[in-house]
Amino acid sequence: MPNSPGSIPHHVAIIMDGNGRWAQQRGLPRIEGHRRGVETVRTMIDATKALGVRYLTLYAFSVENWKRPATEVGALMGLLEFFLKRELSTLVRDQIRLRTIGRTDQLPEAVRRQLDATIAATAHFTEYTLVLALNYGSRTEVVDAARAYAAALAAGTIQADDNSWESFARHLYTADLPDPDLVIRTSGEYRVSNFMLLQAAYAEFVFTPVLWPDFGPAELEAAVTAYGKRERRFGQTSEQLKPDASR
Ligand code: IPE
Ligand code: IPE
Ligand code: MG
Repeated sequence: MPNSPGSIPHHVAIIMDGNGRWAQQRGLPRIEGHRRGVETVRTMIDATKALGVRYLTLYAFSVENWKRPATEVGALMGLLEFFLKRELSTLVRDQIRLRTIGRTDQLPEAVRRQLDATIAATAHFTEYTLVLALNYGSRTEVVDAARAYAAALAAGTIQADDNSWESFARHLYTADLPDPDLVIRTSGEYRVSNFMLLQAAYAEFVFTPVLWPDFGPAELEAAVTAYGKRERRFGQTSEQLKPDASR
């Protein structure tokens, strides 16, 4: 659907980057940046909901992030557990459903338990969804989807002549989620780092130099305003998108 000026994205996905540099600039350990990043997450859950954004996806840990020093990985997992414990009651209060994408079965047991508890406690909410991308990578997602798709073909639950994208997409982690309309990356990096490569096929991108711990409601609103000014053509011409255009 084309944007009407000022329209609000249905699904915002954020590549939260720059925690380490934020800490470094202050002579603090990297984990301090991650701690501040968690507070930005809290703020953004409220700020997106206030704007009427129905789906918020946060890239929190990539499959490649295991390559970081074990102490940093351990600290990130500890923070994730802390965040989930702390937010359970606020997510229930605000009627926000929690979902994950990624190979979450490979996360530490304590994190998985907390995730399961929060997902179960919020599963019945339908208005707002928070999606955490955890141990997520687009390429592993494609591998997992291809295997599931092949199994479905072999089992005959997909017709052999069905070569539609929709059939395949039902095997992605995001099967029941809409594609992101707006992808934001903080910290001045101009790359997608293995995030939602397929789902973001027609997303609008906003890159900001602001580091994630400094990202606030004003920066979110600026990104959403920029989004509202874009014309999404999905392969059509500008002329065709005019309301009275004969097609
Ligand atoms: C993003 O901040 C958080 C994660 C990737 C887990 P970084 O830790 O990547 O921060 P920089 O990029 O080193 O500044
Ligand atoms: C992307 O950030 C992953 C997350 C935000 C979780 P990275 O900091 O890991 O990305 P690269 O390594 O700079 O591409
Ligand atoms: Mg980074």
